[in-house]
Amino acid sequence: MIPKSFIQDLLNRLDIVDVIERYVPLKKAGANYVACCPFHNEKSPSFTVSQSKQFYHCFGCGAHGTAIGFAMEHAGLSFVDAVEELARGIGVTVPHEATTQVQHKVAPDLYEVMQSATRYYRDQLKQSPRAIEYLKRRGLSGEIAAKFGVGYAPDGWQNLESIFLNYQDASLLETGLVIENGEGKRYDRFRDRIMFPIINVRGQVIGFGGRVLDKGEPKYLNSPETPLFEKGRELYGLFQAQKAIRAEKMALVVEGYMDVVALAQLGVEYAVATLGTATTPFHIQKLLRLTEQVVFCFDGDLAGRRAAWRALENALPQLQDGKQLRFLFLPPEHDPDSYIREHGKEAFEHLLGEEALPLSGYLLRELSSQVDLKTQEGRSALLEHAKPLLTAITAPTTALMLRKEVAALAGITQTELEGLYAIKPVGAPMRRVPQKAPRNGFPGLRALLRCLLAKPELARDLPVEWSVEGSEAATVTALVEYLREQDFLAGTAAIIQQFQGTPHEAVLASAEADIMQWGDDFDVSAEFHGILAKQRGEQCKLELQALLAKAGGSVLGLNEQERERYRQLQSRG
Ligand code: UTP
Ligand code: MN
Repeated sequence: MIPKSFIQDLLNRLDIVDVIERYVPLKKAGANYVACCPFHNEKSPSFTVSQSKQFYHCFGCGAHGTAIGFAMEHAGLSFVDAVEELARGIGVTVPHEATTQVQHKVAPDLYEVMQSATRYYRDQLKQSPRAIEYLKRRGLSGEIAAKFGVGYAPDGWQNLESIFLNYQDASLLETGLVIENGEGKRYDRFRDRIMFPIINVRGQVIGFGGRVLDKGEPKYLNSPETPLFEKGRELYGLFQAQKAIRAEKMALVVEGYMDVVALAQLGVEYAVATLGTATTPFHIQKLLRLTEQVVFCFDGDLAGRRAAWRALENALPQLQDGKQLRFLFLPPEHDPDSYIREHGKEAFEHLLGEEALPLSGYLLRELSSQVDLKTQEGRSALLEHAKPLLTAITAPTTALMLRKEVAALAGITQTELEGLYAIKPVGAPMRRVPQKAPRNGFPGLRALLRCLLAKPELARDLPVEWSVEGSEAATVTALVEYLREQDFLAGTAAIIQQFQGTPHEAVLASAEADIMQWGDDFDVSAEFHGILAKQRGEQCKLELQALLAKAGGSVLGLNEQERERYRQLQSRG
């Protein structure tokens, strides 16, 4: 765990303009810097960086965030990696707080342990004719085995004792290389298996997948979740494939270690595999940061088809207009490994180009194949099945197209479908019209949020018992709470970072866009205090009205206490 205070401190010390400038040339424009957005294709610059507030916002695609967010989005780094990278850039060391009970070893130690094990398994492969024979039989070249660091864990219970000075060291357990039984006796997790190191985007080994040579269960044994390795976030082969993914503008997601290796050997170098788990939203997000096109190619069997549908479900909330997800279904007897070895690269890439179904086509095909569209029951079942899928999509154009198509299949209009699902219509003008204040809410709430975001220390001036209602209230309340917790020391960037990925992100993003357009001389304090004064006035008025109403419309109906309150309110208002 990296302490929050360090994140704030780091954001204070960094200059987002320097960070972004390393990758994207920026031009000064008024109070801000602008560039053509690195996250979507555009001809005129709508990517805007505020140096004074230390965040970026793209008015074209909505990408937004802090220097840390930029490093994550642009380089596809995890939060921790992005923080490490940025801290290193300005010569600062990242402190790590020990998490709860387990005293975690400092991470670099664990990486070294994994590195030593990788070296050991590779050396052992050279000395095992049986393992070499197995890989040859599967068609692996020595070159590709070396590229992927493939190794061999020999048979035996404590082989790792020969390379680690202390086999009892906590790090061996923490990396999952050894297992401890009930009596505290240790033994190697991987025995008599072909070893595939799982490498993160920075080139560090974080886990292993081990395959049996002959028959045996499980066929693949994977490292457990460890401080280094989180299955749902890692993709096998991504480190080796990164360059090709950018160059080919495409990422291919397959199921198996062997698929990735075989594809790479035959020249399809942009493939990665999920690690014995379903494709997670995080996987998809990670790939969509690198490229605009992701193709899923799972095995042709039933399990592969199920995996494809899971991938589709998890992809829906991640969809972005202009980015393309497709699904390739191989003949049932094949997986990508067997297909490319039998038919070659050209045939495989031809399939990829010609046969892969766009996500929308796949979704509609599956939905309509489950029901009989000729009957009314079938059409309403379609609407029922489609509801969770359609409502999960937030990308406006994609949502619009799919709603239209599903509505058409069911024989209703898009508006009827939206009414039925109780979802907001899409297809209306995309530009955000300034929102009218909700009826019972506090009219200046949105404006107040902008002020607090632009100049967080203003929150000090809010009355202690302060509370608000209205559509942005939850966000304002959460923000004020956070600022109080931080003793009003958090800056704009720290706020953005804090709420990244929370339900408040969207509301804050639109406030970010608004304040990005304020000039340097905009008087935030005056605006803020003006809003507060107005709110106080409104409240007085409401309370006065309520008092009067209770007293039957006349001051004479008030009791002593109420009359005092009435006078107080009148003098304030
Ligand atoms: P498959 O059973 O399809 O194996 O599992 P494969 O990739 O074709 O492997 P080969 O060609 O027989 O060597 C696909 C993936 O599912 C995970 C692994 O990541 C594997 O690559 N898996 C499978 C496991 O994690 N454990 C298992 O026991 C089996
Ligand atoms: Mn296979």
